[in-house]
Order: sequence, then structure tokens, then C-alpha cells
Amino acid sequence: MRRQMIAGNWKMNKTLAEAGDFLKELQELEPKQPARVVVCAPYLSLPMLAEESAPPVEICAQNVHFAPSGAYTGEVSFEMLKDIGVHLSIIGHSERREYFNETDESLNKKVQAAINEEFEVILCCGEKLEEREADRQFEVVENQLRADLAGVAADDMYLINIAYEPVWAIGTGRTASAEDAQAMCQHIRQLLVDLFDETVADETTILYGGSVKPDNIAELMAMKDIDGALVGGASLQPESFKQLLDYEAK
Ligand code: PGA
Repeated sequence: MRRQMIAGNWKMNKTLAEAGDFLKELQELEPKQPARVVVCAPYLSLPMLAEESAPPVEICAQNVHFAPSGAYTGEVSFEMLKDIGVHLSIIGHSERREYFNETDESLNKKVQAAINEEFEVILCCGEKLEEREADRQFEVVENQLRADLAGVAADDMYLINIAYEPVWAIGTGRTASAEDAQAMCQHIRQLLVDLFDETVADETTILYGGSVKPDNIAELMAMKDIDGALVGGASLQPESFKQLLDYEAK
């Protein structure tokens, strides 16, 4: 059975001391919901967080390079993350696609490398505003995922979580309606049936992200094909992150 996940993506926020203080507060919590509790932190805080964190909190990177090592200034490899006890990373966040030239081609290499390294990822996808306005959202997301997952075997899909994050909803306060988010997550699950099989589709965790807040998470989580949330702004304060983890299931 697929597991739920609530992941806070801190993006480029928090010093080491701030990250440590946040973890202490989070660690005191006994979440009401069974979802995995994931903190996606900047690289500099990862060794400390990986060392200090305890279940149910899991620590996640925000990006990783596909090559095992070499002349890639500024990059970090899967092996380096595993070495500090981190076994999960976001890949393909729309901010990486938009500002750092992340392509579906490089993402496919990251997916392949993650599988070789037995490393779990949260693979992000999502359409831009103009694409939704042109009613092209399903085609856009499907094309991204077909390219990102090319060549992946069904048996390796246990390492892949998918996060649907419409770009127009990220950091804008404009959440997709629960129905629109559900429609896309259902479409993604159907695509997994086409690309792999019913079992993979059934077992893959699909998150929604884009202005998720304590007051809309319950409605999103109640949707059949939404298994979790990738949260930016509302994950930055311990209080608000705790409220997300403790949402009242509908
Ligand atoms: P947001 O960010 O919750 O601030 O919209 C979500 C994300 O980018 O993962």
C-alpha cells in the first residue's frame, strides 16, 4: 500500500542554527497522521539534520547531480548524500527547471542514476500558467513524466515519488482547487498504468504542491489520488508545519 508523505521544502532558507532549532521543535511532535514527515533542506544543513533527526522525521535534499563524481563545480552526488545518511532528494523542482536549466533529459539521467544508487526521489512536474490557460496541462505533465521516466523498469518504481506542482500555484497563494489537483493526480496515476502496470500505479505516492497551507491541506489530502503534499512557504515555521502534519482528515 502506498504511503502518504508531507514534505516541507525549505528552498534557500534557514541557517544551520535555524535548521537545528526547527528540528528540535519538530522532533517533539507526535503526528496524528500516518504520513511520512520529510524536511527538504539546503545542503549545508543536511549533515547536521541527518545526524540529529530521528523517526518519524526524514531528511531530504533539494537536488542532486546524476554523475557519480567529476568536474561539475557546485554539484553534489548521490554517493555524497548517502555518505551523510541522506537517502531522499527532490529532483526537477520547477524552480530548478526555470532558473537552473533543468531539462527532462537531465532529469531522466538523474532518475536512472537514482535507481542505480538505490536512492529515493521526489520527481516534480507541473504546467505553467499559460499552458493551463491553453488547456494543455495534461499534455505538458504527461510529456514531462514520459521523458523523465523513460527506460525505467516497473520493479524500480518503488524509488520514485511524483509531486505535481502547477507552476502558477507555487508561492503565489493561489492553490489549485482540490478537484483540479485530483484530476491531474488521477491522470498521472493512469499514465503509470500505461507506462508500467496497475501495481506500480497503485503503489506510487503522488503529492500535490503549490500554496498548500494548514487551512487547505485536509481538503487536498481527502482526494483519492493525492497521497501527500510538498509544501514551501507554510513549512518554514515549525508551528505551521506542525499544523500541516496534524490536519484533521476529512
Ligand atoms: P509553496 O511552494 O508551498 O510555497 O507554494 C511549494 C513548492 O515549491 O514545493
